[in-house]
Amino acid sequence: MKKTLLLLCAAGCMAACANRSSREAEMDKFVNRLMSQMTLEEKIGQLHLPTVGFDVTGPRMSGAVEQKIKDGQIGGVFNIYTPAAVRKLQEMAVTQTRLHIPLLFGYDVIHGHRTIYPIPLGLSATWDTELIQRIAAAVADEATADGLHWTFSPMVDIARDPRWGRVSEGAGEDPYLGAEIAKACVRGYEQGDLSKQNTLLSCIKHFALYGAAEAGRDYNTTDMSRLRMYNEYLPPYKAAVEAGASSIMTSFNEIDGVPATGNRWLLTDLLRRQWGFKGFVVTDYTAIAEMENHGVGDRARVAELAANAGADMDMVSEYFIDELPALVKAGRVKETTINDACRRILEAKYKLGLFDDPYRGITEERAAAQIMNAGKLALSKEAAVKSFVLLKNDRQTLPLDASKKIAFIGPLVKDQRNLIGNWSAAGDWQQAVSLWSALENKFAKNQSAKNAFLYAKGCNLIDDDALRDKLNRNGGEITPDSRSPQQLLAEAVQTARRADVVVAVLGEPFGMSGEAASRTDICLPAQQLALLKALKETGKPVVLALMNGRPLTLTWEHDHLDAILETWYAGTRAGDALADVLFGDANPSGKITMTFPRHVGQIPIYYNHKNTGRPFNDNEKYTSKYLDASNDPLYPFGHGLSYTQFTYSAVQLSDSTLTDGGSITASVTLTNSGSRAGEEVVQLYIRDKVGSITRPVKELKGFQKAALQPGESREITFMLTTEDLKFYNANLHWTAEPGEFWVFVGGDSATENKATFTLK
Ligand code: NOJ
Repeated sequence: MKKTLLLLCAAGCMAACANRSSREAEMDKFVNRLMSQMTLEEKIGQLHLPTVGFDVTGPRMSGAVEQKIKDGQIGGVFNIYTPAAVRKLQEMAVTQTRLHIPLLFGYDVIHGHRTIYPIPLGLSATWDTELIQRIAAAVADEATADGLHWTFSPMVDIARDPRWGRVSEGAGEDPYLGAEIAKACVRGYEQGDLSKQNTLLSCIKHFALYGAAEAGRDYNTTDMSRLRMYNEYLPPYKAAVEAGASSIMTSFNEIDGVPATGNRWLLTDLLRRQWGFKGFVVTDYTAIAEMENHGVGDRARVAELAANAGADMDMVSEYFIDELPALVKAGRVKETTINDACRRILEAKYKLGLFDDPYRGITEERAAAQIMNAGKLALSKEAAVKSFVLLKNDRQTLPLDASKKIAFIGPLVKDQRNLIGNWSAAGDWQQAVSLWSALENKFAKNQSAKNAFLYAKGCNLIDDDALRDKLNRNGGEITPDSRSPQQLLAEAVQTARRADVVVAVLGEPFGMSGEAASRTDICLPAQQLALLKALKETGKPVVLALMNGRPLTLTWEHDHLDAILETWYAGTRAGDALADVLFGDANPSGKITMTFPRHVGQIPIYYNHKNTGRPFNDNEKYTSKYLDASNDPLYPFGHGLSYTQFTYSAVQLSDSTLTDGGSITASVTLTNSGSRAGEEVVQLYIRDKVGSITRPVKELKGFQKAALQPGESREITFMLTTEDLKFYNANLHWTAEPGEFWVFVGGDSATENKATFTLK
């Protein structure tokens, strides 16, 4: 039976491979023929990607786009969507150009297109790669119905510095989890078959090390050893390449003193030669031009550097179309380099089916049926619920009892604008459900509960005029209340006094995270903290529901408040999800994917650090520590509570030795020892006790999500093979070294529940 199945599978695989290679042969033939008709200028035109229309991330440099399209000087455009707009430009490209080559339409579809899902950092807190893949597929479905072909996502930059505003766009600090999420996104967007009209080209970004910007300041320099790169920062990019990502975006930072966009080691030796990447490389926004500021050459030189490094497509700067013709003539860039780049872009268009149907089946009817339909809105709520992380919950303050008098206080209770977060480019915040309107819907039939809900704004989101102005200049839309801060505070305190419990809904305005939104301090804005202190003084239990785009320092909040729920910016259905979780109709199960520090001075702080020669010891002066704070974080990576409790048995190993090529299992019995159904993310970490190079104190190597009824127990088993123990050694060889390993299984990265085995 098994044998027949195997034979059938083998036959199936061979047929699929044969199909693929015949498709590739057809593509080669088509692209060869097309390129044989193209002039050098037309080939260079394919490498040009201007932005069309308004864009908040930078100036518009592309000038007379229309004429350039007609002249075959543009390969694709971004920042435009809707069937009508896309059709108009595409028609121009395919009817009014010499060779009728269709355009690529790209866009920053980062956590949803029109239907907005939680920000990527929130999505990563679900640890649910199946859900993330489903979301990516739904996003592709919606975005393609709106005319798009290509998303500038996923951002897979490892980030250990929460001052960096763009941590909100990634999956946090861990290379293993980051790699799993990167793969899920690529699979969801591309479905392994771009000829399907509802798939999007994915774009891994920002290659590479963008998350390591010094001091957490966006666009800043990075500098790191190859060992750290290979072991800690590169795995998610590599995993996404292996999952078949079709494009990759260069980063703004330098690597080894050479800007990533002009770094041949990065874009050719590593990406193409070592990893076998077959897609195309697009630069980040004006990144070629910015190499002049980096100080590596003039216009012609930086264009030459980028082309020779392996950048295929120039986003916005126009240096390729302006400089490459002369550079080729002067022999500084080979024509074959241009051919290779052009071919890769044409191949992407071919795979998308654009040469058969340049409109990819877009119609107003399809858009109406797919955009923000019921299924997508339901998925947005599901994702929001699963992304919430219960950071603290003393005396079961949560969930709330609807028969009590509850005061909802804070500038985010009725807010819609902030719920969809940053990089929700085509999202419409007016469609977002605020907490207050969700409560009204939820309790529409329960008049007595509704009447018991009190509200006060409490404070402005921001009282710092200079900061508010800065945020408003970039679309912040923050309007200070006409009442004075004192009046707002007094009203909130009076409201809290009338209640049995207070829910404060506070956080960062959305513009305080994302691109170009680094902070030196990552606490709640001052007037919000003052409000919390005043609410605490009423003596009522205080729950803090947070909306923000990065780990915050919540030390005072943790020490004084009764419960803290992290909800990130949870998207279109944020309010509905929050209402369900606050009242216990859904049980939080998210776990943080970035360490929450106690103090900004602990940054960079991450769980998989090295032991050092003088590990922390509070009783010994000459150990690695601070005088004024402990080393440990406020909340460790992987932390997250539930309304129920989970208990873990000791770790059982199937064997105490693992031989090369073999496997062992590590198991625990997980018990839901509380009184509600709940989900737990069971995490497996290893520690390589002795290595030829120093090894981290813990490394995530597996996780599973288990849903358990009250009283239910389940055995959770992980398999470990030599592959899980490998790392890049001093010679950058991927290897596992014999010796003793610890394996930990628990509910967060601080777990000490461990067993020992030896690799022979
Ligand atoms: C700059 C950002 O760094 C990148 O992530 C984004 O995709 C591009 N702008 C295009 O908007």
